[in-house]
Amino acid sequence: MKRQQVGIEALAIAVPRRYVDLAELARARGVDPAKYTSGLGAREMAVYDPGEDTVALAASAVSRLLRTHQVDASRIGMLVVGTETGVDHSKPVASHVQGLLKLPRTMRVYDTQHACYGGTAGLMAAAEWIASGAAAGRSAVVVCSDIARYGLNTAGEPTQGAGAVALLVSEQPDLLALDVGLNGSCSMDVYDFWRPLGRREAVVDGHYSIQCYLEALSGAYRGWRERALAHEVVRWGSTTPGEQLARILYHVPFCKMARKAHTQLRLCDLEDAPNAANTTAEAREELAKSSASYEAQVASSLSLNARVGNVYTASLYLALAGLLHAESGTLAGQRLGLLSYGSGCASEFFSGVVGAQAAQRMARTDVEAVMARRERVSVEEYERLMKLPGDGPEVLAPAPGEFRLAEIRDHKRHYVEGA
Ligand code: HMG
Repeated sequence: MKRQQVGIEALAIAVPRRYVDLAELARARGVDPAKYTSGLGAREMAVYDPGEDTVALAASAVSRLLRTHQVDASRIGMLVVGTETGVDHSKPVASHVQGLLKLPRTMRVYDTQHACYGGTAGLMAAAEWIASGAAAGRSAVVVCSDIARYGLNTAGEPTQGAGAVALLVSEQPDLLALDVGLNGSCSMDVYDFWRPLGRREAVVDGHYSIQCYLEALSGAYRGWRERALAHEVVRWGSTTPGEQLARILYHVPFCKMARKAHTQLRLCDLEDAPNAANTTAEAREELAKSSASYEAQVASSLSLNARVGNVYTASLYLALAGLLHAESGTLAGQRLGLLSYGSGCASEFFSGVVGAQAAQRMARTDVEAVMARRERVSVEEYERLMKLPGDGPEVLAPAPGEFRLAEIRDHKRHYVEGA
């Protein structure tokens, strides 16, 4: 494992200005609200209009990151946007962001795509670029920005959402110092969730996608665990390796998925433990479902996800924002595990240690203020916004420091910034 400190120095989020209440949506669909709130674990869902596209959300998050953390743009040598809902087959979202934020020309600028894993692909490229020494002291900005859209009256409808998380990656990991070199990966060629060219709505084999996620998680976690054991970051003992992580964050397509994921991760440890032969498969399955473990290691990371919904590439990093917003003071010096999953599919389990400055950084980030500015809309208004054409943004002034798509002219997208 490389010992140089590399990781996330600061973060910022951007979310659409509107949201819908999921119990209200359930009633409108003739579904028991408990299915959405308890069965899926969701409370609210971000509602976007075409003016709040992937570029606008990404640029708004980067603008907030640079402003609130007073980042010197000349320090940035790489800008990567992880997204699966780009706005052009060729021109990357990242180059729009570079232009809108007037960032220097002297940097690498590109998008990374592999469903929800795209943001993690960008984060790892940035972290390994810095760890290799090639960055020569420069930082990277990695943005995860997406719009999750399945359509009205579909099974996936209550698992939609939209938003962006911007990460500043550097040799000063005030939020999270990554354990570079410990990552475990697992990928497979599957059709669990996809979006054919030209379609705005994803196609999904929902229950199969959950199985693929859990299978990929097992492979990625076991890969990480093998390296973490070899480096004595964790050990088999009175607690399992997974229990030695202070918190575990998962990709969150809907909050209940994090509970299923945690059960699966625990099962991997219980099945592989040196003393596994002393217990029955039924006993291990029962132990894996422990609510106490879920409450202690996972639940506190889900507060923002439960209010925004799926944000594809950004979901894992929204969980990180939610966790650090709630607990950065008490978690300083402790190790987190993170599981990224992207359909198709790819997954990666990695870890990092929360920095001593995390609480000060999160105080400047103030995610609660961003969330508090949102307005609740009725189901009728949500349906109206969903039916707007993608190239027909509403004429609305963006909030100060935020961006909106204003119009598309000659196939070129034009954005405005809130004054
Ligand atoms: P569904 O078939 O409508 O729901 O679709 P269900 O019947 O499976 O019920 C969901 C849960 O609610 C179940 O809990 C029910 O028991 C419970 P579980 O058994 O799973 O623990 N339930 C109730 N609970 C309380 N009171 C009630 C009640 N009724 C039922 N009255 C599904 C659910 C998630 C499949 C659907 O919403 C969907 O297709 N979503 C999109 C796909 C998805 O999110 N997949 C997740 C894994 S793949 C992934 O994460 C990648 C992704 O982010 C994309 C990318 O990588 O780019 C999606």
